[in-house]
Amino acid sequence: MTDLWSDKLKSMDQRRQPSFRTQPGGRLMGRLRVPGDKSISHRAVMLGAIAEGTTRIKGFLRAQDCLATLKAFQAMDVCIEEDRQAGDIAIRGAGLYGLQAPQSPLDLGNSGTSMRLLAGLLCGQPFDTLLIGDVSLMHRPMQRIAEPLTRMGAAIQTSTQGTPPLRIIGGQRLRGIEYHMPIASAQVKSSILLAGLYAQGRTCVIEPMPARDHTERLLAEFAYSIERQDLKVSLQGGGRLQAAMIEVPADISSAAYFMVGASIAPGSDVTLEHVGINPTRSGVIEILRRMGSNIKVSNRRMAGGEPVADIHVTSTALKGIHIPPELVPLAIDEFPAILIAAACARGVTVLTGAEELRVKESDRIQAMMTGLRACGINAEPTADGMIVRGGQLQGAIVDSHGDHRVAMAFAIAGLAACGDIIVRDYENVATSFPDFVAFSKGAGLDISVEQ
Ligand code: S3P
Repeated sequence: MTDLWSDKLKSMDQRRQPSFRTQPGGRLMGRLRVPGDKSISHRAVMLGAIAEGTTRIKGFLRAQDCLATLKAFQAMDVCIEEDRQAGDIAIRGAGLYGLQAPQSPLDLGNSGTSMRLLAGLLCGQPFDTLLIGDVSLMHRPMQRIAEPLTRMGAAIQTSTQGTPPLRIIGGQRLRGIEYHMPIASAQVKSSILLAGLYAQGRTCVIEPMPARDHTERLLAEFAYSIERQDLKVSLQGGGRLQAAMIEVPADISSAAYFMVGASIAPGSDVTLEHVGINPTRSGVIEILRRMGSNIKVSNRRMAGGEPVADIHVTSTALKGIHIPPELVPLAIDEFPAILIAAACARGVTVLTGAEELRVKESDRIQAMMTGLRACGINAEPTADGMIVRGGQLQGAIVDSHGDHRVAMAFAIAGLAACGDIIVRDYENVATSFPDFVAFSKGAGLDISVEQ
């Protein structure tokens, strides 16, 4: 294809991309319950599918990413019933050894969590599988799981660049390993633990810093014995999982947009209900508080083995900070939103230790830098983060790079901008937050869809 022709196709494609537009003047008000937690929804389906008995999941996130996981298990003959209205699902568990070979490749769409966690689980099956995804997923690094899984005895192939498709040859004998993870990644940790269920002996993972621990908590809910000590987690292969009743908390990653929005839009006052505040996920609360946000956490309780609470946020003037690197893994998905808070803060915010942002659904350092600059904000990317000088957000056209979190962050930026913000290519918002436009409009953001 000539360059001219591919440029033409690209520009035609861009014209077709739907956008949303925010207008200035909104504020966020009321009691809001954002949809269920994405990470927990994925894991609850996976463990339910290999448990014995019927697992019920209340508050399952019906977003494209979690549906990709669900469909993958349906393709492996697991019976899953959905009550769409209630948002509940029931999974008739096939047991550890009851999955059937899928008839075609498992297409996991945009979902890195589905691919990396499933890879671990599928290494222990007697059949072969091929895992594929959309353009973004097909460019994401998979060597980080392929390497430890291979050490466990798995037969797993990536492309020569270490990216998908992932070809997994079944029927291998897995053995437990002790693995020192080079990066803080819950996906890598979980992939190894899921393979560990099928391994001979003990599988032990040592993290450099704590990453989200939903797999560990859920394994315990499914009555699987798991040992945790500081940064070390281990389990013995060959046990059984028993079906469970799981209540999925509201997703703190989705709530984060409204925490930032309520902080930066004068006159805002919102309560986010039933939000998961697992300490391995709640870095955003700590970071926003350090920036001066007015955040109160109340009504703390437990649901599905996870701590939840209501989060009350009112608007206030924010200040720039040096974000402590140890908080980075605890808020890894919230940086698009946090960088919008930084853009609205007085002074300079410095983010370091966040190189992982470069290999998310997009290169989030690059995507946020170009978006912030388009909005007139001084944003300097670094290898592992960004330096943002707070200022007045201007109206702009922003490209989300097909990344749901970048799109939602710039929608929220619309609350503090002095002109319209148009976010291009927002459709992937549905991968984690179905009906985001209607939900945020109901909360007080002036947002509309443009074709
Ligand atoms: C996730 C872990 C994180 C996060 C992702 C969801 C999970 O990825 O960014 O959105 O559910 O385990 P890493 O494990 O790559 O940090």
